[in-house]
Amino acid sequence: MAQQVRGVIARAKGEPVRIETITVPDPGPGEAVVKVQACGVCHTDLHYREGGINDDFPFLLGHEAAGVVESVGEGVTEVAPGDFVILNWRAVCGQCRACKRGRPQYCFATHNAKQKMTLADGTELAPALGIGAFAEKTLVAAGQCTKVDPAASPAAAGLLGCGVMAGLGAAINTGGVGRGDSVAVIGCGGVGNAAVVGARLAGAAKIIAVDIDDSKLETARGLGATDTVNSRSGDPVEAIRELTGGFGADVVIEAVGRPETYEQAFYARDLAGTVVLVGVPTPEMRIDLPLLDVFGRGGALKSSWYGDCLPSRDFPMLIDLYRQGRLDLDAFVTETIALDEVEKAFERMHHGDVLRSVVVF
Ligand code: APR
Ligand code: ZN
Ligand code: ZN
Repeated sequence: MAQQVRGVIARAKGEPVRIETITVPDPGPGEAVVKVQACGVCHTDLHYREGGINDDFPFLLGHEAAGVVESVGEGVTEVAPGDFVILNWRAVCGQCRACKRGRPQYCFATHNAKQKMTLADGTELAPALGIGAFAEKTLVAAGQCTKVDPAASPAAAGLLGCGVMAGLGAAINTGGVGRGDSVAVIGCGGVGNAAVVGARLAGAAKIIAVDIDDSKLETARGLGATDTVNSRSGDPVEAIRELTGGFGADVVIEAVGRPETYEQAFYARDLAGTVVLVGVPTPEMRIDLPLLDVFGRGGALKSSWYGDCLPSRDFPMLIDLYRQGRLDLDAFVTETIALDEVEKAFERMHHGDVLRSVVVF
């Protein structure tokens, strides 16, 4: 039986979101219905409602979530009703050229549920990142459910579903930070601070946090940054060089998504160092760098989608580290809110007051 639940809907570009009744079908083959327990508010949700992703309104927002599998459709073997899961937007296909080369984290054909959730009048909804978890229940592909230790707090665990995983993975997976490395992180919001934590987990000896907001830098210090730089009070490239014996950092992670901070990252790394772009730029942004510097400085310029994570590999492992007290996911939950407070959370996010607001059901 299809079920009626409440969900946060963006009806039109720029319009405030509102709660509406949605219909969640029973899971078909390869699908699962998940009772959502917590869902973080991410920039991408705001981008959807501002029309920055595409025009497929109405959207069912929310995609950074954890919950319990309620029912599964035919042929589902990877999860069962009652499993505690983190939802992911990288359900890998196993068939594409990336998967076949043994690099499923780059899967080019990830999948979502085939059936549509709808508004009460039958209008089909477009779920954010194929998830749509600002809803009491949501329909996803079973591969989007990653089973983890049920002792984890849903609010903290759900954050691995997007932003925190992006930051952790930018350091650990994409940047390949190793023991003894020097790392600089430019932009210390939820994503950048997760990169700080990732760098620490990976054994970095020096972790330089860079932001324009002292309160973000203070948080970064609490999470493991060894040095902080406020780029309002001087050239951050010079500051990073000074802190690294005049050379620059081995890995610089850009977690803002702007040309000027990318350029800082480019010049703040040591020769043969690595730049990781995890901040998401907008379509009109351009960079202009001397090609000779790109060549002459060597190293690697990489971008990091979803922290190059493989959910089935990374989520259970990171939740285990969290449970052992080695990964402080709770630090990213600035506030827990109710489902009808998402619009307010967008405002707080816009003002930079929070690492994450998390809707708890
Ligand atoms: N230099 C340094 N830091 C900056 C600058 C700058 N010029 N401009 C902004 N910042 C800082 C902000 O002060 C803030 O702490 O960057 C941080 C951005 O953090 P959030 O707005 O909380 O965003 P977050 O969720 O961390 O995402 C960062 O990654 O996933 C993408 O779309 C997301 O592009 C965004 C980026
Ligand atoms: Zn694939
Ligand atoms: Zn997100």
